[in-house]
Amino acid sequence: MPLHTKVDESVQDAELEINPIYFREQTCEIPRYKLPEHGVLPRTALQVVRDELILDGNARLNLATFVTTWMEPEAEVLMAECAQKNMIDKDEYPQTAELERRCVNILSNLWNAPAGSQATGCSTTGSSEACMLGGMALLWRWRARRQAAGLDAAKPNLVMGSNVQVCWEKFCRYWQVEPRYVPMVPGRLHLRGAEAAAKCDENTIGVVAILGSTMDGSYEPVLEISRALDQVQAEHGCDIPVHVDGASGGFVAPFLQPDLEWDFRVPRVASINTSGHKYGLVYPGVGWVIWRTPDALPEDLIFKVNYLGGEMPTFALNFSRPGAQVAAQYYNFLRLGSQGYRHVQQTCQDIALYLSGEIAKMGPFELFTEGRDLPVFAFKLRDDITGYSVFDLSERLRQRGWQVPAYTFPADMTDTSVMRIVIRNGFSMDLASLLLDDIRLHLRVLEHHPQTQPPPEIQQMRQSFKH
Ligand SMILES: Cc1ncc(COP(=O)(O)O)c(C=O)c1O
Repeated sequence: MPLHTKVDESVQDAELEINPIYFREQTCEIPRYKLPEHGVLPRTALQVVRDELILDGNARLNLATFVTTWMEPEAEVLMAECAQKNMIDKDEYPQTAELERRCVNILSNLWNAPAGSQATGCSTTGSSEACMLGGMALLWRWRARRQAAGLDAAKPNLVMGSNVQVCWEKFCRYWQVEPRYVPMVPGRLHLRGAEAAAKCDENTIGVVAILGSTMDGSYEPVLEISRALDQVQAEHGCDIPVHVDGASGGFVAPFLQPDLEWDFRVPRVASINTSGHKYGLVYPGVGWVIWRTPDALPEDLIFKVNYLGGEMPTFALNFSRPGAQVAAQYYNFLRLGSQGYRHVQQTCQDIALYLSGEIAKMGPFELFTEGRDLPVFAFKLRDDITGYSVFDLSERLRQRGWQVPAYTFPADMTDTSVMRIVIRNGFSMDLASLLLDDIRLHLRVLEHHPQTQPPPEIQQMRQSFKH
């Protein structure tokens, strides 16, 4: 979360301006940065907080996020009913724990865990925590192997593309693992087998393959990466596991690309994570991580909590966590089934392909991806278009509420500025056509009114979109 700093003393006593018809109290004084001495009526508090929130963007027009912004009213009712349940209180809420167990089983099957493998996993707050747990298991296993062989275990490294989501950078920094990034280059925007293998050595704890790059929605070739690591093992003896970061793709590939081998069908894949709150179609607050076998998960990472007289093994960074999201995940599994998930994801992909096709036809743009892997695509302006930038277009689209992020690619391609569109459940063909109309309109304006460069601090703000 952003770090916030205590405000200057001069504004400490500032009060909120409250519309007098909002409150029934005789007076209503609410300090902005201090706890009020007295409370207000529930209706007053509700009105004041709602007013604060009206400047937030419209979630349905948010084409930047991968996270679910629409659920059925029945799911919302269920989540409200479960709002007070704490996932960690297994004794108080044993059935919530049971739903989590069923979800882990459903995902293990969806990801083709081999029969009898006893694939093991858990829910998390999202993919970031799930990736952190996946990375820790890789680190602990590598260290145990090295120590058992009497070898130096002081310099672990993790191999991945520079297009990884920031959670992997965090993992490396927090656990003092050297991140070995394979840079993006024009024509290769994600990790490939040969480049991954070239970075590996005896200190490599694992390779991260992303199923659905955050940058452009493309899938990294898990099978190719795995075969390249087979070669490394044959030549150098290092047996390097793969963790698949399927934050988005874990819920897309099983339905849209069922023949693609990216999951536990690939023997080198040790663990997989996904975000229930992305294409799992649940509101924010749930992720999943599953290991192929229990021994992929070192025993000393597991804590036991007392549970119905027995002991429940847990692996988590948090302790308390909301239970509502897990109930909602199970609701989605029941409500949609395999066919329903396929239908939702296919609809998103149809819209992504339609949009990317129309955007390609407009003239000034070049596509990096079309939305054939995830229903996500990225595009840039042609090099000869110099009168305006993708940042100008992004800002103009914001005038009607569309949030289409513009950003620069990571290391080695930082001079490439792109726009990305993520199609999620709740975005319709009709909205897509309206967006296209607005893009065409703004392009006309921008072509006739070339933009001047904004001051440096504004340029900095415009480029600071976080993935
Ligand atoms: C590939 C990838 N990994 C990890 C994450 C982090 O996921 P979460 O927001 O669920 O923590 C994201 C988020 O966009 C992602 O795209």
